[in-house]
Amino acid sequence: MKMLTFANQDQMPILGLGTWKSAPNEVYGAVREALRIGYRHLDCAAIYGNEQEVGRAIREAIAEGSVTREALWVTSKLWNNGHGREQVIPALQRTLADLGLDYLDLYLIHWPIAQQPDKVSARSAADFIALADCPLTATWQGMEAAQAAGLVRHIGVSNFNARHLTQLLEGGQVKPAMNQIELHPYLQQPALVAFCQEHGIHLTAYSPLGSADRPAGLKAADEPILLEDPIIVQLARQHQATPAQVLISWSIHRGIAVIPKSVNPGRLRENFAAAELHLSAEDLRQLATLDRGRRYVDGKFWEVPDGPYTLAELWG
Ligand code: A2P
Repeated sequence: MKMLTFANQDQMPILGLGTWKSAPNEVYGAVREALRIGYRHLDCAAIYGNEQEVGRAIREAIAEGSVTREALWVTSKLWNNGHGREQVIPALQRTLADLGLDYLDLYLIHWPIAQQPDKVSARSAADFIALADCPLTATWQGMEAAQAAGLVRHIGVSNFNARHLTQLLEGGQVKPAMNQIELHPYLQQPALVAFCQEHGIHLTAYSPLGSADRPAGLKAADEPILLEDPIIVQLARQHQATPAQVLISWSIHRGIAVIPKSVNPGRLRENFAAAELHLSAEDLRQLATLDRGRRYVDGKFWEVPDGPYTLAELWG
């Protein structure tokens, strides 16, 4: 398995298991099966509402002796109602308690969006806090303090654009080690990828398969189905692989970590095997032509009447 190397030489497996949308009662089995297959990188978040179950699977696998904590890479994310310097460590401690771990390998600010501490979900303008009143640099100080306290090995962000990242690069002590963003052939984000690579910030691709299982409220009626794209289907046929494997391999070939979600044993295995699929320069050229700037997670839920966040500002 290819690894991404961090400044202190820590290594993260480039292919991980996504757990967004993995329902309670399903995610335990998925994580246990993934660890049996060989996955060593788990991508979690407090807001996924399943960290206790993920943690139980990790702990039981460790107790059984099939994997060690040191061999695992566990990422989690700070939810929007935990922004602010003093709030990060308490939120992180809740995640650690849920996962049953004493440290994370990577902790990310989930969104450049701040919500009132008592609002896990924000529906109206009053539920949000403008970044002018709760700057990303203040939240980042909390992330730096969590790292200094040994609660996390690495700190980074998710859904940040170049302008958000610049604030941290200029105003922070520690450089963000990761930006986790939506990336797939329909949303290749060349400028943001180049910006991160120029600044030595690793990338992780979320929704690499097009996240067809996300809630209906987050879906557009006319959305194109990535797994059914004719070029992707044709490349899969040529390689005797599946469309999902082509999508996962595409990210690995770009040196970008990728976290396909599955709770199905056959698909977990299929996705893991994508690490062995070799795409040619011509395959990659064809995939590069598919970019259409299509977001599956479009962030519309952050734009409320008279609220402090707009999509134009969010995505830069
Ligand atoms: P399931 O969990 O039943 O396998 P994303 O990672 O982009 O969020 O996409 C996750 C969606 O893709 C889920 O609906 C998941 O369903 C499905 N999925 C995962 N792996 C595969 C695969 N190899 N082929 C087809 N669909 C897949």
